[in-house]
Amino acid sequence: MATSTSDQRILVLDFGSQYAQLIARRVREQNVYCEIVRHDITPEQIKSHNPNGLILSGGPNSVYADGAPKCDPGIFEMGIPVLAICYGMQLLCESLGGKVESTPTREYGRATLKVIESDDIFEGFPAEDQVWMSHGDQVHQVSDDFIGLAKTETCPLAAVRHKSLPVYGLQFHPEVTHTPNGSVLLRNFLYKTCGCTGTWKLTDFADEMIASIRERVGDDRVICGLSGGVDSSVVAALLYKAIGPQLSCILVDNGLLRKNEADIVVEQFTNHFKTDLHVVDGKDRFLETLKGITEPQEKRRRIGHMFIDCFKSESESIDGVKFLAQGTLYPDVIESGAAPDGPAATIKLHHNVGGLPEELGFELIEPLRDLFKDEVRRLGIELGLPEHLVWRHPFPGPGLAVRCLGEVAEPKLKVLREADAIVIEEIMAAGLYRETSQLFAVLLPVQSVGVMGDARTYDNALVIRCVNTDDFMTADWTHLPYEVLGKMSTRIINEVNGINRVCYDISSKPPATIEWE
Ligand code: XMP
Repeated sequence: MATSTSDQRILVLDFGSQYAQLIARRVREQNVYCEIVRHDITPEQIKSHNPNGLILSGGPNSVYADGAPKCDPGIFEMGIPVLAICYGMQLLCESLGGKVESTPTREYGRATLKVIESDDIFEGFPAEDQVWMSHGDQVHQVSDDFIGLAKTETCPLAAVRHKSLPVYGLQFHPEVTHTPNGSVLLRNFLYKTCGCTGTWKLTDFADEMIASIRERVGDDRVICGLSGGVDSSVVAALLYKAIGPQLSCILVDNGLLRKNEADIVVEQFTNHFKTDLHVVDGKDRFLETLKGITEPQEKRRRIGHMFIDCFKSESESIDGVKFLAQGTLYPDVIESGAAPDGPAATIKLHHNVGGLPEELGFELIEPLRDLFKDEVRRLGIELGLPEHLVWRHPFPGPGLAVRCLGEVAEPKLKVLREADAIVIEEIMAAGLYRETSQLFAVLLPVQSVGVMGDARTYDNALVIRCVNTDDFMTADWTHLPYEVLGKMSTRIINEVNGINRVCYDISSKPPATIEWE
């Protein structure tokens, strides 16, 4: 039986899908190791990976379009099981004698799948169930070598199987949550068709990552920006395990942090790692650069620049730095097609610290860039980080500046910090912190009339924002109990000087974003 990652693996061939990483994550969830590779990988290269199976991702192209990404058709004949999704299925069927045609209207959304062959990869899948479609073309006709396994109203060949090869095609996306039983199909493919036994764990990922960081870094020094959030903490923990004393961490206190945040980070950090920690006091510099600035993008730009200045000057005081480690996660990777070693080389990176690596000329280490937030959290627990740190809600790089609408100044930040601390205290008291994804306060540059005691007030309004989300790319506003909201509101108005009105934000993302600026 397999015991290590190298024994069993799945390769995802990336045709430029938004979902390639999501497929990889779904495979990992089934405890099977998975790697994303280029779509044009050769059969010889595939052999050298010795995979148990291949998954062909979807992609935005039509198989007949000029320059559409193709794979070597020889891969279908290798005897290695193949699951081809959406564009991958069209490519599969077209390569093996079928026909692909564009549908009159692009099909995007939920569809009802009717299963024709309920065994094989459809074992345990309901006879009729919802699936997610996202395609312009679809397979119109297959060669006699294929049989149909399932259909929808508009797609008679929604799932197919080759009669003699272990090769399957799905027109819908089993990897997205809108296909609620998609994991049943993936599991059947991985366990029954590919013979995987589910021996891979996230700790294997950590071990491999630690080994590869150690090898890459050698005797050099790495700096790591710390924010106190889970991502940078997990990166620091991985690096600490990999290279111990060759790691220096830098925390920039920009004055835009939550109440007591810098002290909490220093305390937590020094409790868990005995590494070199530099705290840069940048409060005055950040406030100075934000003076008079009200435009949100300009605020972000200035914060980014000032962050670079602070980080740069501090890193100059550390000898022998060759690498910069960042906690970039997969959702931070704004893909214009795929992973960097995938077909689309035009990928753009969202750096939490905006352009920092290029400015500093360091080599970048991003150990979490293939992972989603919940995987990072699980990894944090595996690495021994405390639960309360691992489960902290995310906090944006530009900090309270994007929650203090309009011009940022210390008196407003103080009001916001106090109100923010109250909402967090109250959600904790209600036992709902872990059930919400992100909760915070936003200070509006709007004043309204109120009455306190017998006196008229003319103070600011504050908004409470609370969302639930899996990936922070889309989010629903949280239906917090009225009593909890009531308690937050009463406490804020009574305890925070300068607020006389509290509102609750009931917008989802999209069309709103999570942050207000
Ligand atoms: P939006 O407002 O884009 O936020 O819906 C999605 C998630 O990203 C966080 N966020 C940021 N995180 N640097 C960060 O590190 C940033 O510039 C930034 N802007 C937004 C936000 O808090 C939410 O979790």
